[in-house]
Amino acid sequence: MASVVMGIIGGIAAWSLAVFKDPTQASVLHHHALSELKPLLSPNASIHLPCSEGFQTAMDRWTRWKNPEFDVIVEVVTEDDVSKAVQYANQQEQQFLAISGGHGGTKHLGDVEHGVGIWMRKMDGVQVHEDGCSATTGGGVLSKKVVDALWEEGKQTVIGACECTGAIAPALGGGHGWLQGRHGLLADQILSARLVLANGTAVTVSSSSHPDLFWAIRGAGHNFGIVTDMQYKVYDRTPQNEKWAMETLTFSGTKLEEVLQELNEMMKQYHDVVELAHWTEVLWLSQVDPKLSPLSHDTFLTDLRGLAAPLMMDNDGAACQHGSAYLRFPFGGSEYNIEGLRIAYDTLAALPPKLNQSWIISEGYSMRGVQSVPAESTAFPDRYNSLLMAVFMVYSPEDEALDQQAAEYGEAMRDDVVKSSGDGLQAYVNYAFGDESQEALYGYESWRLDRLQKLKALYDPDGRFNFYNPILT
Ligand SMILES: Cc1cc2nc3c(=O)[nH]c(=O)nc-3n(C[C@H](O)[C@H](O)[C@H](O)COP(=O)(O)OP(=O)(O)OC[C@H]3O[C@@H](n4cnc5c(N)ncnc54)[C@H](O)[C@@H]3O)c2cc1C
Ligand SMILES: *[C@@H]1O[C@H](CO)[C@@H](O)[C@H](O)[C@H]1NC(C)=O
Ligand SMILES: *[C@@H]1O[C@H](CO)[C@@H](O)[C@H](O)[C@H]1NC(C)=O
Ligand SMILES: *[C@@H]1O[C@H](CO)[C@@H](O)[C@H](O)[C@H]1NC(C)=O
Repeated sequence: MASVVMGIIGGIAAWSLAVFKDPTQASVLHHHALSELKPLLSPNASIHLPCSEGFQTAMDRWTRWKNPEFDVIVEVVTEDDVSKAVQYANQQEQQFLAISGGHGGTKHLGDVEHGVGIWMRKMDGVQVHEDGCSATTGGGVLSKKVVDALWEEGKQTVIGACECTGAIAPALGGGHGWLQGRHGLLADQILSARLVLANGTAVTVSSSSHPDLFWAIRGAGHNFGIVTDMQYKVYDRTPQNEKWAMETLTFSGTKLEEVLQELNEMMKQYHDVVELAHWTEVLWLSQVDPKLSPLSHDTFLTDLRGLAAPLMMDNDGAACQHGSAYLRFPFGGSEYNIEGLRIAYDTLAALPPKLNQSWIISEGYSMRGVQSVPAESTAFPDRYNSLLMAVFMVYSPEDEALDQQAAEYGEAMRDDVVKSSGDGLQAYVNYAFGDESQEALYGYESWRLDRLQKLKALYDPDGRFNFYNPILT
């Protein structure tokens, strides 16, 4: 049986807020999109203009910080729709951006201005192949749909923890999830993909077709194209492997050192246990009784479908609510750097009240499956750090003055931990803030960056896919 042990957790407040953009500047382009682009699209595709509900829905993102701005949203249904939308944007010299789960949050997304949004959510089919060990999904599918559809067919695969993120974009940056200890990253499951390139041409990407791109999309994929569908490995779920035991423990901050020490020991001792995962969340809880230790203790027995809810990562949970500004500062670690985390904890505990919903998270999944894939075989650079940590700064987006303050605190807390660990920063590209070095995002071995830069120059010479931690050539 697999199990999840969780450290310090608590409630997170969230609320929603509508965003309205001034549409006047763009009226000429709107007219053009309707007259020129619409006739080229498949019958079920739609074009949404700023005052429409569809437009607002597509614009409604997880974080209210550095959001992309669009003049028009193209709701695509087929691969050819994606190609046509890209070609149209190129002709108009407009920026474009794929939108799936809307949970991307790097600052580069805010560089999209007057863009064409390519809204993928209708391309969400999930089909298990007859061989029983592979499946195909559309480019806009959300995580929950993949989990549920595979489950129905007696299958499961490596998938992220959160129900409402896209399933494809995480895989393009590596993709961490529950079953990675056994099977590797989300990216390691990819068998092939259809990819619409910067010039609108669609190609098949696999070990035998464009193998250079196949290497690149498994870790740096957002830089190279829009995936319209993806084939990936799936596995049988069986009575032996489908149950998960989960335990949640909450401790007061005075116990930080003890808890982290214990977790370091646990990681050493159970290094080879493929389905032992743990998360720690360090955050403010308003109502706790400090006399208890642990302050609270819950246990659950569930399956892959049920792991999201206790972590508040289900569709109704806090992690899926939109409306706050979230800034993430990721860093990897091979163990808990207790000294550095104490400094960061003390900073967190002393944050001004307007930032007191911020937290520090650490995801500790088994690395067995991840490390059994040769490091040079994909663009994903970090197969050695077993902890995926991040500072999350959270605040009300109405208070713009907080943007800079939150960024400074976030950077400082991350720096405190990384500096005191003595290792270089490894920043998971899917959590990146956006100011990390190329090496921190894509790897310190010079051949990696060389290779990525050459591929970028070849396939995206004009930097059309430069809004998600771009590879600079
Ligand atoms: C609450 C939460 C939980 C998370 N949990 C995990 C986790 O467990 N494991 C993990 O690895 N990551 C996790 N992440 C990080 C996640 O991988 C990224 O946030 C990812 O960008 C989300 O993808 P999306 O489709 O939801 O977002 P979007 O903002 O729609 O897309 C993100 C980026 O990918 C591009 N993109 C979207 N669809 C496609 C496509 N079909 N082809 C090419 N490019 C595309 C977009 O243009 C954008 O640049 C989590 C994030 C959040 C906010
Ligand atoms: C278009 O939508 C209709 C109604 O939902 C559906 O029956 C049809 O199969 C769709 N066509 C395509 C090409 O997706
Ligand atoms: C955070 O600060 C606000 C005041 O801005 C206060 O009302 C709230 O209780 C604090 N939250 C926690 C968890 O301490
Ligand atoms: C688009 O780019 C790809 C890769 O560089 C190239 O092979 C293809 O010929 C280009 N298509 C067009 C229509 O120029």
